Amino acid sequence: MIDIHHHLLFGVDDGPKDLDLSVAQAEAAATDGITHIVCTPHANDVYEFNPQTNQARLAAIRERLGDKLTLGLGCDFHLSFENIEDALQHPHKFTINQGSYLLVEFAEFMIPQNIGDTFYEFTVKGIRPIVTHPERNPLLQKDHQRMAEWMRTGCLVQITAASLGGRFGRRAQALAWEMIEKNWVHFIATDAHNLAGRPPRMSTAHEAIAKRCGQETADRLCIENPRAAFEDRKLAPQPEPEGVYTYEKTPAPHGGFFSRIFGK
Ligand SMILES: [Fe+2]
Repeated sequence: MIDIHHHLLFGVDDGPKDLDLSVAQAEAAATDGITHIVCTPHANDVYEFNPQTNQARLAAIRERLGDKLTLGLGCDFHLSFENIEDALQHPHKFTINQGSYLLVEFAEFMIPQNIGDTFYEFTVKGIRPIVTHPERNPLLQKDHQRMAEWMRTGCLVQITAASLGGRFGRRAQALAWEMIEKNWVHFIATDAHNLAGRPPRMSTAHEAIAKRCGQETADRLCIENPRAAFEDRKLAPQPEPEGVYTYEKTPAPHGGFFSRIFGK
């Protein structure tokens, strides 16, 4: 399995504090069956994203791990005004392995009304946004239909593996499954931070999806799509997402234009 969202770099955010903890976390991931990890430190108003520091930490972990795992570098990119400006000016600064895929995260209680325009601007610059764990966002839990608009502009969707087992509450769990069943999800990732509360585990989710939705779906979400993002390739054709490109017709309140004219 390939994990595209994982806080593995030590001393840069709320992930592991030192090299030993990073190595232990990576080894636990390998034991779980994870073969590739994109290290995705936060870039927000608490944690500064410094590409040089990140590269240095990555090199130190790689040296200790040898060929046990393939590591890459990305970012857990928070959609702040400053970050958006920075990404538009430096399109590959925050993307997965400096390719075209970018993990984007909303603030918990505010989704800007015009965020769809930002996603469109990203795609013009060759950046493909991946909305991270929408199932955990209280606003999207109330109205996840907003995502359909973003998906139509090319946004992809990543769910946290542990949401499927209820780690982030019942609402997140229900929405995660609903979105998978509607073909709204492209990636499962751990968003691991440590060995205890936010461990690097994907196998449980992979098995649960295989049981409920079939092996093909489980492999697509946990192996094939994440591999394409890791290698900066296009995703293979995906199953049609339900209700994203088709609209349910809402009857006009007093009959439509033609019915008023022609009485039908
Ligand atoms: Fe994260």
